[in-house]
Amino acid sequence: MTTQPFDPVRPDTALSPPPGCPAHAGPGGVTRLFGPGYEADPLRVFERLRAEHGAVAPVLLTGDLPGWLVLGYREILEVVRTPTRFSHDSRHWHQLKEGKVAADNPLLPVIGARPDRMTADGDEHRRLRDAVNDCLDRFDRRGVRRHVTHFANQLIDEFSRDGRAELLDQFARQLPMAVLTQLLGMPEAYSPRLVDAATELVKASDKAIASNDFIKEQLAGLLARKKERPSSDLASWLIEHPAGLSDDEIRNLLWLVLMAANENTTSLLASTLRMVLTDQRFRASLAGGQMTLPDAVEQVLWDDPPTIVIPARWATADTELAGRPIRAGDMLLLGVAAGNIDPAVRPDLNAPMHGNRSHLSFSGGPHECPGREIARAIADTAIDALLLRLPDLRLAVPEGELRWRATTWTRHLVALPVEFAPRPPVGDALPERAGLLPPRRPLPEPRISTPKPPAAVEPAEPPVEPRHTWWDAVKGWFGGQ
Ligand code: HEM
Repeated sequence: MTTQPFDPVRPDTALSPPPGCPAHAGPGGVTRLFGPGYEADPLRVFERLRAEHGAVAPVLLTGDLPGWLVLGYREILEVVRTPTRFSHDSRHWHQLKEGKVAADNPLLPVIGARPDRMTADGDEHRRLRDAVNDCLDRFDRRGVRRHVTHFANQLIDEFSRDGRAELLDQFARQLPMAVLTQLLGMPEAYSPRLVDAATELVKASDKAIASNDFIKEQLAGLLARKKERPSSDLASWLIEHPAGLSDDEIRNLLWLVLMAANENTTSLLASTLRMVLTDQRFRASLAGGQMTLPDAVEQVLWDDPPTIVIPARWATADTELAGRPIRAGDMLLLGVAAGNIDPAVRPDLNAPMHGNRSHLSFSGGPHECPGREIARAIADTAIDALLLRLPDLRLAVPEGELRWRATTWTRHLVALPVEFAPRPPVGDALPERAGLLPPRRPLPEPRISTPKPPAAVEPAEPPVEPRHTWWDAVKGWFGGQ
C-alpha cells in the first residue's frame, strides 16, 4: 500500500471519506486503525477523528479490538507521564483478561508483554531501563559521529561514480545498522545479510522467523565473546552493569535496542533527506544560516515522525481523559503524529520549530526513548557527510512521485531516488576530519528570512542551543522464540 506525502501545512480534508465510510469503519461505525482505508492515509484519518471527537477518539485495532486513540498533545503527555493511571503493562487489559483477544491476533506480540520486559512498569522496568540508559550514556558523542561519517563515506563511495542512487536502500537502510553493530560491539556482523534480516523481520514477511533466528544467533555469539573479552561497547557494559542482568535479559535488551534503533533511525534519516531535498522552507532557511541540519531533523520529528502511533497504555482504574470517561483496563494508543500537529500547541504549522525538541516522537515519561541522542547524531551527521561529498544532490523524480508505506504504527518512504554529478570514490582518503566537525553547514540555496517559532508549545524536554515498525518486528521475535 502506498500513500501520498502528507503535508501538515496543507491537510486536504476534501479527500477524507465521510464519517462511517466502510473503508475506515468497523462495527458501530467506529474507525479502524488498520486495513487499506487507514493505511492509504493515516494522517488524514487522524485529522478526521480530531474533528469528530476532539483529543481522544474511539478506534478499533486488528480483530476489531476497541481502544482510545489519544490525539491531543497535552493529553498524550498526561498519559505517558502518569504511569500509575496509565500503565504500559498489558496485564491490565480487560479484553485480554476476559479472553476476548484471539491467541493468534497479530497484535498480541506487539502490545502484549514482551520478552525484553521493557513494557513493564515500576521497579521491574526501572532496573532494565537504568542499565540501558547508563550504558548508552557512556558513548562519547564525538566517537559516534566519527563512526557515522566513516560509514557514510564508505556507502557514498559505492555509488558516487554512478551519478544516481536510491538513497533509501543504498544509504538510509544501511547506515544505522553499520553504526549500531559498532556500538553493540559486533562490527564484524554488519553485512547486507544483517540489514536484510532486520528488514524482513520488520516486514513480518515469510522470512521473518529465519531472519530473527539469524539476528538472535548473532547476539548470542556477541554475548559469549564479550564475556570472554570485554571491550568498550554496549554488550560489555551491560554485562558489567551493577544491575546484575542475566544472560537472557542482556540478549533481550540488545535485540530491543537493535530493532528499535535501526528501523526508526532509517526512517528518520530518509525523511530528513527528503525534506532537505524538497522543502523550500528548509532549503531557504538553511541557506539563510538560521536553520541547521539538527533543526531540520527536529522539524521532521515534529511533522513526519517514524512512529505515528505508539502502542500502548492501559487505564489502571476508572478515570477520565479530555473529559471522556475511560474504564479500568481500557487500551489507549498514543497518536504522536497527530499530537505533534495539535492546533492547541501549533496553531501555525508553517512556522518552523527551530530545533525545538518538545515533540512527542520519542514519547515521554519513564519509557521515553533512551536512544534519542544517538538517533539524532546518526541522522544529522550522515546527511552532513552526504552533502559535503555531493553538494549538487537533487531528487531524480518529481516530488509528487515519492511514495509512503504505512502500518497501524509507522509510516515510511518507499524509495528516494536522487541524482548528482558523478565523482570518483575517495576510499582511504576519506575526509576523516569531517567526523570531528559539528554538522552545522547550511545548504547552498537562496537566502530568505524565516518567521519566529510558535510560542504555544510547552517544552517536554529543555530546548537546546539554537545552533546546533520496529513494532512489527516484535512479531518476529515471538515467531522465532
Ligand atoms: C529516530 C529514531 C528513534 C525513534 C523515533 C524512537 C522512538 C521510540 C519510541 C516512540 C519508543 C517507545 C516509548 C514508549 O513506549 O512510550 C522508544 C523506545 C525505545 N527506544 Fe527508541 N527511537 C529511536 C531510536 C532509538 C535508538 C537509536 C535507540 C538505541 C540506541 C533506541 C532505543 C530504545 C529503547 C531501548 C526503547 C525502550 C524504552 C523503554 O521502554 O523504557 N531508540 N523509541
